[in-house]
Order: sequence, then structure tokens, then C-alpha cells
Amino acid sequence: KELANLRDRIIVITLGATIEAIDPVRFISNHSSGKMGLALINAALDAGAKVIAIYGKIDVTLPENSPSFTKIPALSATEMLNVTLEQAKTADILIACAAICDYRMKEISKEKIKKNSANNAITLELIPNPDIVAEAKKATPSLLCIGFAAETENLIDHAKVKLEKKNLDIIVANPVDNGKAFGKDNNEIHILDKKGNISQYTETSKNILATNIMIYLDKYHETE
Ligand code: C5P
Repeated sequence: KELANLRDRIIVITLGATIEAIDPVRFISNHSSGKMGLALINAALDAGAKVIAIYGKIDVTLPENSPSFTKIPALSATEMLNVTLEQAKTADILIACAAICDYRMKEISKEKIKKNSANNAITLELIPNPDIVAEAKKATPSLLCIGFAAETENLIDHAKVKLEKKNLDIIVANPVDNGKAFGKDNNEIHILDKKGNISQYTETSKNILATNIMIYLDKYHETE
């Protein structure tokens, strides 16, 4: 249903996995499916927002572009950073749902890397990727930033650290120790905000969780 404080707001959502090229035929990536991102897109559109989706590698089909929906591909973390910073300038809210590779190749090989004749181990030199949501918040402090924290242990503590470190307004924490999260339809979450509130949502579909996140954002805006 439409939510008064989200109506016509511009919400940027990053989703999916980034792909970091090793050489012309190989890459490093992860198992993010984009399911939670798609659920967030649909919930934001239902709430009446204008949605800009910035997507890496995904296993879901996004809606067609429309007056209220724009999708922009950005495969690597570097591309996703550039597109996100550009879109964030005019946005109200950034929901960073994408699973960005922590590292990329220091130099992408121009030629396909050959197996060495002695069959020895090889070493790839990797450098850290930028933190997209943290950079966006730094560049546009008025942007309401929501991050995700998928953790196998000390869920709340790790989420709190990320909330502060990335200077987020809100973080959505979800456990990944019990088959939940990647590629699944269901998830269990805790929403933490910088005001110190913690709310728990028991396991349910990603669609219902996404709707709950929009309701949380709608209320959060009201009390800002
Ligand atoms: O640090 P970690 O990857 O667990 O943080 C997760 C949150 O930060 C997610 O919201 C993710 O989209 C965002 N993130 C980002 N850029 C990165 C790494 C994570 O925007 N390089």
C-alpha cells in the first residue's frame, strides 16, 4: 500500500553481486541472487516511491523501465560506485542491498591467463574495493542510507559496528548460519537504527520483510 512519507521520494537500491574481472574470460563474484533487492524494489514501488535500481549479476527479472522505475546495470564495484554516487545526488534514500566483492584485481589481465607448464600454484594480486554505501553517505550526507549485514555470528554486535563505521542511518541484520539469506525466499531480520532502536522481525518471506522495511522507513521519516 502507499506510504505517505515515501510517496514520490527517490529511492536508489543497489542489488545483486558485483563481478570483478580476472582476465577476459574469468571473474570473481559471490552468490547474491538479487531476490531481496527485487522484493525491496516492488515494496518501494507499492509505497509510491520513484525507484532507481543499480544492479550487478542477478538471478531475478527486474520490472521494465517506467515513469516510476529506472534500472541501470553496473557490473563491477567501481562501476557501481560511480553510478551510485551520480544517482545519490538527487535521491532521498539509498538502500544498499548489493553484495559487493571486497577485492578486485590490482590489474585485470589483458590476455587469458595460461595454466603454467609446471602446473604450479599461481597468485592473484587483489586490492580492496571502495565501500559504496559509506562513500555515498560521505558525498551526500542528507541521503538516508540503509545497509545490510549478513552475519554468521554476533549478529547484533557486528551490525552495530557496521552501522557506525559506514555512518548509516539504518542497518538490516540477518543471520546466515542456518541456510537463510542467499538465494532463499525467506529471511529473518533485525532492524537497527542510529537512534539506538532495535526491532526484530521473525522469519517470513523476503516480500513481507521488504514491506516491513518500507513501513519502518516511512515511520523513520516521520520522526526525523
Ligand atoms: O561490510 P559488509 O559487506 O558486510 O557491509 C554490508 C553492507 O554494506 C551492505 O549494505 C552492502 O551493500 C554495503 N557495501 C557497500 N560497498 C562495499 C561493501 C558493502 O556498499 N564495498
